[in-house]
Amino acid sequence: MQTQQDAALKAEVHDYWNAQPCGTQFTDLPPGTKAFYDEVERFRYATQPFMEKLCGFKNYRGKKLLEIGCGLGTDSLQFARNGAIVTGIDLTEEGPRLAQQRFNMEGLQGEFLSADAENLPFEDATFDVVYSFGVLHHTPDTQRAIDEVYRVLKPSGEIVIMLYHKHSLHTWIGVPLFFLGGLLKGKVHGYKDWVRVYDGGSNPLGKAYSRSDARKMFHKFRGVHFTICDSYRRKYPKFLNAINQSLLAPWSGFWMMIYCTKKE
Ligand SMILES: C[S@@+](CC[C@H](N)C(=O)[O-])C[C@H]1O[C@@H](n2cnc3c(N)ncnc32)[C@H](O)[C@@H]1O
Repeated sequence: MQTQQDAALKAEVHDYWNAQPCGTQFTDLPPGTKAFYDEVERFRYATQPFMEKLCGFKNYRGKKLLEIGCGLGTDSLQFARNGAIVTGIDLTEEGPRLAQQRFNMEGLQGEFLSADAENLPFEDATFDVVYSFGVLHHTPDTQRAIDEVYRVLKPSGEIVIMLYHKHSLHTWIGVPLFFLGGLLKGKVHGYKDWVRVYDGGSNPLGKAYSRSDARKMFHKFRGVHFTICDSYRRKYPKFLNAINQSLLAPWSGFWMMIYCTKKE
C-alpha cells in the first residue's frame, strides 16, 4: 500500500516532470516541432555518446520492450528504429504525449501511456526487456517499482536500468562543497539535497545507490552486473571532460547501469 506521504511526494514528482519533460531544458525550440526533437536527440547523444553501447539499442529486434519513465521517448526511438516493439510509460502526461508525437512523425510503431512504475498496467510476464534510464530513483518506493519490473518481465527477460551511483566523485566532492556553500547562506544542505538538485533546484526527489544496495534490490534477478559511467558535464572544460570520461567515470561516475535477467 502506498502511504499518504509517498502519494503526496509522487504528485510533486509528477508535477515537476510534467512541467518540464526531461530534455526540454536544453533547448529553446518549440516543443513538438521536428527541429525540437532533432535538437533533443543531437544533444542527448553528444553528451552521452556511450548510450548505444551501454543500452544496447540494436540488441532487441523483434523483442517486446517496455521503457519506464520514457520522458520524450528519445531512447525508445533508438530501440524502435532498430526493430524493437516498444511500449513507453511515464508518470506524466506530457512525456508520453510528446513521445507518441515523435513516433508518429517518424512513422514508427510504438505505444506510450501515462502510468506509474510502482503499479504497472500490464499482465505478468508481458515483456522481453525492461529499460529505464534515470527514473526509478525519482519514485518514492523504488523497491516496489523494481518488483513491478520483475513481475511484467517474461522468464529469462532482461533489464537495462540506470540508477544514480552513490559512491561517485559527484557525491564525494559535491556533498561537502554544497554543505559549505549552504552554511554561508545560513542553510544546512545535506547529501539528499545534493542528489536531488542534480535534476534541478526544485526537483522534489532523487536518490543514489551503491552496487551493494542494487544487489539487494535486484536479488530476485540473476546475473546482476554493473557498468559505471557519467554524462559529459556542460560546465567542465573539454580537458576535464576528457579526463573524467577516460579515467574517472568508469569507476566513480554518477550513473550506474544495472543489467540482469529474470530467473526462468
Ligand atoms: C530524469 S527524467 C528521465 C527521462 C528519460 N528516461 C530520459 O532519460 O530522458 C525522469 C523521468 O522519470 C519519470 N518518473 C518519475 N517517477 C515515475 C514513476 N513512478 N512512474 C513512471 N515514471 C516516473 C518522470 O516523469 C520523468 O519523465
